[in-house]
Amino acid sequence: MSEKIIIIGGSGAIGKAFVEFYKEQNSSNIVYSFSRSNNPVDNENIINSYIDIQDEVSIAEAAEFSKKEDYFDKIIVATGVLHDDDLSPEKTYKNINSTSMGKIFSINTIGPALIAKNFIPLLNKEKKSFFGFLSARVGSISDNRMGGWYSYRASKSALNMIIKSLSIEVARNNPNAIIAGLHPGTVDSNLSNPFQKNVADGKLFSPDYSIKKMVSVIDNLTFEDSGNCYAWDGERIEF
Ligand SMILES: NC(=O)c1ccc[n+]([C@@H]2O[C@H](COP(=O)([O-])OP(=O)(O)OC[C@H]3O[C@@H](n4cnc5c(N)ncnc54)[C@H](OP(=O)(O)O)[C@@H]3O)[C@@H](O)[C@H]2O)c1
Repeated sequence: MSEKIIIIGGSGAIGKAFVEFYKEQNSSNIVYSFSRSNNPVDNENIINSYIDIQDEVSIAEAAEFSKKEDYFDKIIVATGVLHDDDLSPEKTYKNINSTSMGKIFSINTIGPALIAKNFIPLLNKEKKSFFGFLSARVGSISDNRMGGWYSYRASKSALNMIIKSLSIEVARNNPNAIIAGLHPGTVDSNLSNPFQKNVADGKLFSPDYSIKKMVSVIDNLTFEDSGNCYAWDGERIEF
């Protein structure tokens, strides 16, 4: 059966792989792909448009644009930042810096929360629907054995809490919606690029491999699973 799908962050390695997968899965699927640097070329079933998730006006405009459709079956937030020209993950508490931490939280936590605020009303209420957020295993407090990466870890822990609260609230009005975090594994992308040398053989996934695993996880989730975070192999990640 065809579906209507939104990918926020469709220009990233993982987001782009989701867009391509859902486009290929069914020629009648309609895929909306949002990012700051999207390929502007639409085709029959991919609609590209702009979003800056650090700007709520832009998020609201993207949600308004999406109202061309009456509902969506899946919405996946695949945006995120770990490093850029101005910041890199902290090796020690001595590196904590308010500007860098603010930027990481703005993109990894506050942006996804504002996306939820603006896009949850677009979820299908008539049948099972899914709202997923790319989180990360390193956001698990109970799994933290290495320390470091203060801002990124904390931004994903906070995202996990937002996902949990959303799942409780949304269930009251839309019991057909499943809201969950997703850990993609270590995936070859701009985000992971500087940190790939310590990845064990066979553990650096292609975006295509990772998203196919996550698609299978998403398809097998039930309403009881809402509010949790799941890894690429279906393992539930403890908070
Ligand atoms: N790769 C991994 O190993 C790995 C592991 C665990 C979790 N994750 C998570 O998976 C998600 C995707 O990561 P990735 O590896 O695909 O990274 P990526 O290739 O670097 O993609 C990052 C995406 O975030 C978007 N983005 C960043 N800031 C934005 C903003 N202000 N407004 C709109 N879009 C913005 C980028 O879009 P622009 O084109 O606009 O820059 C891009 O689409 C992230 O949440 C990451 O934390 C990744």
